[in-house]
Amino acid sequence: MEIFDLVVIGGGPGGYLAAERAGHAGLKTLVIEKREFGGVCLNEGCVPSKTFLNSAKVLDYANHAKNYGVSVEGKTSIDQKFVVERKNGVVKMLVSGVKAQLKRNKVKMVSGEAFIEGKVAEGYSIKVNGEQYVATRLIIATGSMPVVPPIEGLKQNVESGYVMTNREVLDLDYIPKTLTIIGGGVIGLEMASYFSSVGTQVTVVEMLNKIAGPTEDEVSKILQKSLEAKGVIFNLGAKVTKIEADGVVYEKDGKTQKIESEKVLLSIGRRAVTQGFGLENINVNLERGAIVTDEQMRTNVANVYAVGDVNGKVMLAHTAYREAEVAINTILGKKDAMRYNVIPSVIYTNPEVGSVGETEESAKAKGLDVKCVNIPLTYSGRYVAENTDLNGICKIVVNKKTNTLIGAHIIGSYAGEYIVAVSAMIDLEVDIENIKKLVFPHPTVCEIVREAIFQI
Ligand code: FAD
Ligand code: NAI
Repeated sequence: MEIFDLVVIGGGPGGYLAAERAGHAGLKTLVIEKREFGGVCLNEGCVPSKTFLNSAKVLDYANHAKNYGVSVEGKTSIDQKFVVERKNGVVKMLVSGVKAQLKRNKVKMVSGEAFIEGKVAEGYSIKVNGEQYVATRLIIATGSMPVVPPIEGLKQNVESGYVMTNREVLDLDYIPKTLTIIGGGVIGLEMASYFSSVGTQVTVVEMLNKIAGPTEDEVSKILQKSLEAKGVIFNLGAKVTKIEADGVVYEKDGKTQKIESEKVLLSIGRRAVTQGFGLENINVNLERGAIVTDEQMRTNVANVYAVGDVNGKVMLAHTAYREAEVAINTILGKKDAMRYNVIPSVIYTNPEVGSVGETEESAKAKGLDVKCVNIPLTYSGRYVAENTDLNGICKIVVNKKTNTLIGAHIIGSYAGEYIVAVSAMIDLEVDIENIKKLVFPHPTVCEIVREAIFQI
């Protein structure tokens, strides 16, 4: 039996960063991972999907090369086996980087499924591979898994492999002729963008009347039009009721319809992993299946914290990172608190979307007096120089009372890279007059923020 200052269950972004920071601060730390270090993000989420999407972007460029005065000889095509192999190489490199970083910070890593046995005199008893470890403090970072609702035929068709989740689709080494995507949220849209670029006929079935859920309405419409221009068919306001061996049955406008396709992707949300590892043995409070945490990532149980998707707050890797840091700072006695109002979100479709903070609607619903500016990205010289589809926009939301930015919603090249600049302006509550004095490099697409600010 070995006693640790901190035991972290789960080696995804929340878990590995918490362990790394704790080790760096000198805490005797153990991190336990049952599948692969790097978690969903590195192995079957953020990183694999972005390697796929980059191959599609290269193909899109090649297919439209003539628009830039470049001729490509012969027919362009995608080698999906190569794309998957390249993805595996990228994942391997990054996972080994995570392990090296943990090792450098003297964190002990154990591969195996952790089970919480209960409270003991020195802390919490954790069993892995038959070994007992004692945690003075515990961080739960067990992440999330796809929601598989009780739709007729769904479970059998997931088991048969006809219906894929994010895990299987990112290992698919051939291009299906047809693909039905259930759910027009982030995973569905990124995969619709990829598969439509590489030649699959994609149909998205989405329950709501818009795609990309919380995304600002006009941005969501532009994204939909851009994907439609690539051949994606959207069935909105359509609820899936049954999965058959060759297609998806859904109800729309009171009528039952069916789409046949070679493969199906299920992407209708994710749920926290809170079962099967003894959480009940220490009586951690759950709400709607996720662990309840406060601003310091504490649970209701003394010295037990929960970070990342498992607390169900904002299921993004960068949220997990920051929550991990807040938990470690709290353990170290440093004042810190998690703030959720300025977490940027990016949809890595082509074109990509970057959003942060309030939309006009959400701000007004909170009773805020706001002024909004909506300008086309064609105000940016670099955007016009580098694109032929010029439909991008930048919308900003300003709080009139405080004269500060409270939201930005952008669709177009690099939006995901520079949205953080807007997050910083919002987070630091920089006065609009001071933002006007900032120098932006020229020509860049991020100059659009400066343009929008000057139009207030
Ligand atoms: P996870 O990454 O889920 O890691 C949890 C780990 O805990 C897993 O490795 C699991 O094996 C392990 N575990 C669970 N139970 C036990 C146990 N009992 N014992 C030991 N180990 C255990 N987010 C972004 O910010 N940007 C993106 O571009 C993005 N793209 C995504 C694309 C896809 C297809 C998906 C599915 C998700 C994407 N996400 C993205 C979300 C992101 O992957 C998650 O928010 C992030 O991985 C959460 O990190 P985590 O550490 O909480 O959990
Ligand atoms: P999501 O929550 O983004 O979207 C799910 C969509 O499915 C919603 O639009 C919902 O209305 C729809 N839906 C639900 N039930 C349905 C049904 N029965 N029939 C038809 N439509 C239905 O979930 P998704 O795409 O699975 O992604 C999970 C999470 O992973 C995201 O919420 C996000 O946190 C994370 N993620 C982040 C990415 C990024 O940051 N770029 C990329 C991919 C995933």
